[in-house]
Amino acid sequence: MINIGIIGIGRIGRVHGESITKFVKNAKIKAVADPFLNEDGKKWAASLGIENTYTDYKKILADKDISAVLICASTDTHAPISIEAINAGKHVFCEKPIDHSVKKIEEVMDIVKRSGLKYQVGFNRRFDHNFKAIKDAVDAGKIGKQQIIKITSRDPEAPPIEYVKVSGGIFFDMTIHDFDMVRYLSGSEVDEVFAVGSVTVDPEIGKAGDIDTAVITMKLANGATAVIDNCRKAVYGYDQRAEVFGTKGSIAIGNDSNSSAVLSNESGVTGEKPMYFFLQRYMMAYAAEINSFIDAIINDKPTAVNANDGLQPVLIGLAAKKSVDENRPVTIAEIKKSFDL
Ligand SMILES: NC(=O)c1ccc[n+]([C@@H]2O[C@H](COP(=O)([O-])OP(=O)(O)OC[C@H]3O[C@@H](n4cnc5c(N)ncnc54)[C@H](O)[C@@H]3O)[C@@H](O)[C@H]2O)c1
Repeated sequence: MINIGIIGIGRIGRVHGESITKFVKNAKIKAVADPFLNEDGKKWAASLGIENTYTDYKKILADKDISAVLICASTDTHAPISIEAINAGKHVFCEKPIDHSVKKIEEVMDIVKRSGLKYQVGFNRRFDHNFKAIKDAVDAGKIGKQQIIKITSRDPEAPPIEYVKVSGGIFFDMTIHDFDMVRYLSGSEVDEVFAVGSVTVDPEIGKAGDIDTAVITMKLANGATAVIDNCRKAVYGYDQRAEVFGTKGSIAIGNDSNSSAVLSNESGVTGEKPMYFFLQRYMMAYAAEINSFIDAIINDKPTAVNANDGLQPVLIGLAAKKSVDENRPVTIAEIKKSFDL
């Protein structure tokens, strides 16, 4: 049994807490920490049978019985807490993104390499049953040589404007999952990015310096072309679809709904909307990613999503941002060169 501590019990920290308690066999949450811990947080922890609640995550790092931590605090804490946790001898599961700064991610990568400890990044969609079905078919050669990869990724509603201001922008907060999915499904790196962005949902998002709608095309090293379309708001719910098209055929996934019921009557034929948002759609993927992390620790295996998998989507995001700002295609080589990579 691996004792773990969760650092940050906001939205995603609580999702992990609940999914681990219900669905992860070989891990026990021994403590949680959050500087804004209040009665509600304590009650939530008690309801899951968690022994210790702290306001200071350093207490988790000092606990010798805890061998792994989940970093679920706000993004700006991920890199510094990762480094501190590794120095304290803990295996680390870090929510995405590791950081927006390439330099800080490199520091994390360097220390992870020297430590021999496990480090996994929270790209949960790799563990979703639908995306995994595409990946398995692609790897089995069922679609032949890849030609086009299409990802549609739209949220049901835009986040609060205060969140937009600190999120790092749509490419680092939202599209980062889709950049990871392009790499995961194709098994290929991205060479070049051309992105078009606009503000179609809320002018306040534009005033905050971000966009809320984007189409990104990418040339991949394997010769395929990938297209992602994003929007911060789709009135019908969380739209998460993908297709890989190749010389032997195509494999596509649709959205998950609460049921497959279809109502046919005189006004038309209707089905259920997609599941509302990530909490509903990806609950089992969150459990599966932590099961995989714990398995890597127990059986001394490489983690399924390593620190380099955390770095690459950030490089793609930087290229996408530059592409929108300068209205031109941007190569990943150009981005890497600017960081001496
Ligand atoms: N993989 C996913 O699907 C997914 C989904 C949502 C969020 N995230 C990522 O998870 C992170 C958190 O997002 P969220 O939506 O849960 O945010 P949130 O604001 O709901 O929660 C963040 C929590 O971290 C706490 N915190 C801040 N500094 C801390 C510190 N030093 N020590 C401990 N706790 C601290 C805050 O008090 C807050 O409770 C972000 O980096 C986000 O990108 C990932």
